[in-house]
Amino acid sequence: METEPSFFETSPTPNVVGKPLNRVDGRDKVMGRAKYSAEYPIPGLTYGVLKTSDIAKGKIQNIDTSAAAKQPGVLAIFTHLNIPKLAVTPNDADGKKAIGAPMGFMPLTSDVIHYAGQPVAVVVADTFERATHAAELVRVTYLTEQPIAAYTDPKAKIFDPQKIQDGKTDGKTRRGDARAALTSAPVQMTAVYTHAINHHNPMEPGATTAVWEAPDRLTVYESTQGVTRTQKALSTMLGLPNEQVRVITKYIGGGFGCKGSCWPHSVLTVLAAKGVGRPVKLSLTRKQQFTGMGHREDQTQTLTLGATKEGKLTALIHEKTSTTSPWDNYAESNSKIINMLYDCPNFEASYQLARGNVMTSTFTRAPGEAPGSFALESLMDDLAYKLNIDPIQIRLLNHADKDPTNGHPWSSKSLKECYARGAELFGWSKRNPKAGVTRNGRLLVGMGMATASYPVHNSQGNARVRLYADGHAVVQSGATDLGTGTYTVMTQVAADSLGLPPEKIRFELGDTKLPTAPNSGGSVAAGTVSSSVYMAAQDVWQRLTKLAIKDKKSPLFGAKAEDVIVDKGRLQLKKNKAKGEDFMALMKRSELTDIEGTGNGKYGAGYETGQTASPASSGNVEQAGQHSMHSFGAHFCEVQVDPDLGTVRVTRWVSVHGAGRILNAKTARSQIIGGSIFGIGAALMEATHRDHNYARYVNADLADYHIPVNADIPEMTVEFIDERDPHINAMGVKGIGEISMVGVSAAVANAIFHATGKRVRDLPITPDKIL
Ligand code: MOS
Repeated sequence: METEPSFFETSPTPNVVGKPLNRVDGRDKVMGRAKYSAEYPIPGLTYGVLKTSDIAKGKIQNIDTSAAAKQPGVLAIFTHLNIPKLAVTPNDADGKKAIGAPMGFMPLTSDVIHYAGQPVAVVVADTFERATHAAELVRVTYLTEQPIAAYTDPKAKIFDPQKIQDGKTDGKTRRGDARAALTSAPVQMTAVYTHAINHHNPMEPGATTAVWEAPDRLTVYESTQGVTRTQKALSTMLGLPNEQVRVITKYIGGGFGCKGSCWPHSVLTVLAAKGVGRPVKLSLTRKQQFTGMGHREDQTQTLTLGATKEGKLTALIHEKTSTTSPWDNYAESNSKIINMLYDCPNFEASYQLARGNVMTSTFTRAPGEAPGSFALESLMDDLAYKLNIDPIQIRLLNHADKDPTNGHPWSSKSLKECYARGAELFGWSKRNPKAGVTRNGRLLVGMGMATASYPVHNSQGNARVRLYADGHAVVQSGATDLGTGTYTVMTQVAADSLGLPPEKIRFELGDTKLPTAPNSGGSVAAGTVSSSVYMAAQDVWQRLTKLAIKDKKSPLFGAKAEDVIVDKGRLQLKKNKAKGEDFMALMKRSELTDIEGTGNGKYGAGYETGQTASPASSGNVEQAGQHSMHSFGAHFCEVQVDPDLGTVRVTRWVSVHGAGRILNAKTARSQIIGGSIFGIGAALMEATHRDHNYARYVNADLADYHIPVNADIPEMTVEFIDERDPHINAMGVKGIGEISMVGVSAAVANAIFHATGKRVRDLPITPDKIL
């Protein structure tokens, strides 16, 4: 069987891949040279400001724009009555699907109000201040109806969706007979978990700069996790060919999932620019960010388990109820991780939804896995205490040696090593197993842990390498860098693949003119793009090998291509390494200034679609679809709880993950730290409160929406298990964006239980819930 090359074979001892290289874009960022999407000084630029609805349900009776229009510098005020029309909107039948939009509703298409914060007008002026002032003067009168704020509203109608819109999960999933298994289980436990609304709150809000170069040709500088997806959404809505819409995203100030799709403000900015005939830039205000780009939905999970007296799981039943918008059936699929994390023969999951007057919720870091693991890992902890078994032991007892959902072997799994190494680093053996007895002075001390996992999603991407005879290279892929280090790790991969020092590589991303890459989402970017870069370099070497073996002046003249290997930029015979030459000598002699190669990086198979996935590029083609591919890890948390005030301080943290090849020890550690802090925020602080009468957020700002600050977080210990997974992709990279957060809130809750003997199942765990 023909196999494609693998980084494992060609770079057995990588030079810079894996090393803690400093960020290649770090200097530009701290010097203010890195341009974000609202920072392009386009000639003739104007400023757009949204006017949003104060009511959550009803109709616009009248919009009076006369006072606003008279203000100096105001160029246009667009409402549903005069904004340029879209060719297709997500409101149309099948429109949402065609667009790939996150919401089946586009504001300013009618007078109907579905949620508070819904845009009702776009004001365009020659300065931001003038546009902001004019937007204040737009007077809207509404015919107001009583909104539904959430599924917890007594008036809300709870229903069974046939499918929930994460695109993959049915409203119901079954394996075995969980109800029957539960009935006969000697140990039965059930508990109810609630999760507050969370907002992503990246430092850089949603931002769009729209420039129409011609009536049918558009360039958009957009703060997005995926230029390709944004291009598709905009071109479909505008009725333009893809290539006439260019999307550029060079730097992003965080995303966490909210920049994973194209939201209304981007579309409205593009339309306003068309209407006003000048470039328009629009940034969401912090308050608008809370109603502009989705959120993690408010939700209740009921988790029931059946187990033997020894602690072996026999049944898991998961039920989730959450709020969705008036038009979409979106819910995070929490049950996926509950289904696969432990060896349990019987499983059942169901989703229920209620329509509220809210925008559609969306991917929020580790969507589904984060809240799902909170329920499962909390209940596993309860089971451990009930049966007097160590929390790690109960997890080892239920360790899934193969994927319980389909019986496939794992492509690699280092979970046992993660437990062992984490326990060692944390000093787990010194923990008193009894809850509520360990003290540090008057503070209660608790230690908890939880398992983490995240699937390797099926994904593919492309890259282009242009290698120059003077020994530098330009490497391109239409990926994005959320701030997590894509520029840096791809520079490292290109350096090792081309045998050049990293400073001789320029990696370019964030432009639909570049080879197509997936969204930086679902933890797919690192693996897919790095494999694309590696494959593009291999393409270059194949071309140069062909050149060398036909060149009479080359020491490799007449050799067979398959007998030639490349080591650090030198083409040489596999069996006689002395015979060969440097690529620069070859190219110069051939009068080639540069040579280009392209590459396609594919996952061997996705967890969800293993049977139909494209074959692996890793030399294990026959294995495609035969393995389940997941990262695994373990978090360990120590808290100190003030018994009088109920305040919780995380005092120690250890995370150990097995996530395939780690491309950069420093950026990877930072990403795990960041994700864990995100999880600690969800566990202890983060909650957006929606007023039940008006269905409006009452704390839509960073003063009242609490997130951890440096003083809340201890020094964190992060390690990775060295994992060489040959099935995933050419680079063996699984991705670490989401797993960093999975299990975190449970590890915190479990530590709090160990400290206090009190089980809190309602996130965030604020002091009032502990007292
Ligand atoms: Mo992530 S929630 O897939 O951006």
